Amino acid sequence: QKEIRIGLLGLGTVGSGVVRIISNHQEELYKQTGLHIHIDKILVRDTNKKREVPIAPDRLTVNAEEIIEDPEIDVIVEVMGGIEPAKQYILEALKRKKNVVTANKDLMALHGAEILRIAQQNRCDVFYEASVAGGIPILRALTDSFSSDRITKIMGIVNGTTNYILSKMSQTGADYQETLEEAQKLGYAEANPGSDVEGWDAAYKMSILSTLGFHVAMNLSEVDVKGISDVSIEDIELGKKLGYEMKLLGLAKLDDQKIEVSVQPTLVRNTHPLASVNGVYNAIYIEGEAVGETMFYGPGAGALPTATSVVSDLVSVVRNMKLGVNGQKMVAPYKEKRLKTDDE
Ligand code: NDP
Ligand code: HSE
Repeated sequence: QKEIRIGLLGLGTVGSGVVRIISNHQEELYKQTGLHIHIDKILVRDTNKKREVPIAPDRLTVNAEEIIEDPEIDVIVEVMGGIEPAKQYILEALKRKKNVVTANKDLMALHGAEILRIAQQNRCDVFYEASVAGGIPILRALTDSFSSDRITKIMGIVNGTTNYILSKMSQTGADYQETLEEAQKLGYAEANPGSDVEGWDAAYKMSILSTLGFHVAMNLSEVDVKGISDVSIEDIELGKKLGYEMKLLGLAKLDDQKIEVSVQPTLVRNTHPLASVNGVYNAIYIEGEAVGETMFYGPGAGALPTATSVVSDLVSVVRNMKLGVNGQKMVAPYKEKRLKTDDE
């Protein structure tokens, strides 16, 4: 086999970034995999739409079966978003022994356990680094670098859109609605930006981080969620006068076999490193019993940073394909066992 053939589901912000990186970094990708990575077909809703990247029209399709049922396609890259039909396409692809890379945090937070179980049954990989904090390799850090430790706390800014809005409001007094529209134009916001501003996108990410960090199946109803839509410029300015910056903070703690996960607008002391994380940048603290406190920082959304994570996952899939170990080195399998919650 000289090339790996990809079926790309979605050609929006992230999908266009994936096309760019695969095209611009062919040499690096070849040096690391020994194979040419070729995007065969791309699923979109509208084949006539003007695209960010040059694509031959015959590679676009509105018919998912053309991709999922094509025996020549080795890997499905899902960057269309949403639960359905993305879930159905991924499960169908796995049953046909195709490996999957996805950036879909909604799907992995709500249905990750089922998807990973079916992947393992079919000896396929499902990698999803891009689903949390865009270009920051945080899932790899949690599941590989800290696999020897007991993680006690995960805390940080995990949504780029709300951080972009809050820091612009703080720095320039910008209007909430106008800044949200800017974040949408820049490709940071979800297709439904309510998920960003009401805190759900951050809650999905905290749920994924908690699952991987604490080795438990998290239930989203256990996450205490509040977004930024009620935060006013007056709140931000009063906080600033008192020496604080407003941030949408995700917090997950493991304490005496109990887990607590929340997403809340929080006033952060301006001397704290999280207070100076601005714009689309994210930062995540991971605290382990042995390692102590560590902090990861980088772009949390946007085409190329997110696509970097997607294509790096693709390289991992290809390496596993060459070794014949797909589905055997799965990123921390989800456990059925649960820890106690406050009500138990
Ligand atoms: P976009 O809305 O920009 O792109 C979605 C793409 O999927 C479009 O090309 C759209 O087609 C296609 N699509 C959507 N639904 C369907 C469908 N039912 N059938 C066929 N094609 C469909 O989304 P993003 O690129 O921003 O996000 C994609 C995923 O990546 C989401 O899961 C998101 O949460 C995640 N993500 C996004 C980040 C970002 O910075 N934007 C960062 C990290 C993760 P068409 O173009 O024809 O409309
Ligand atoms: N809408 C998300 C954000 C994209 O703003 O962080 C990255 O997951």
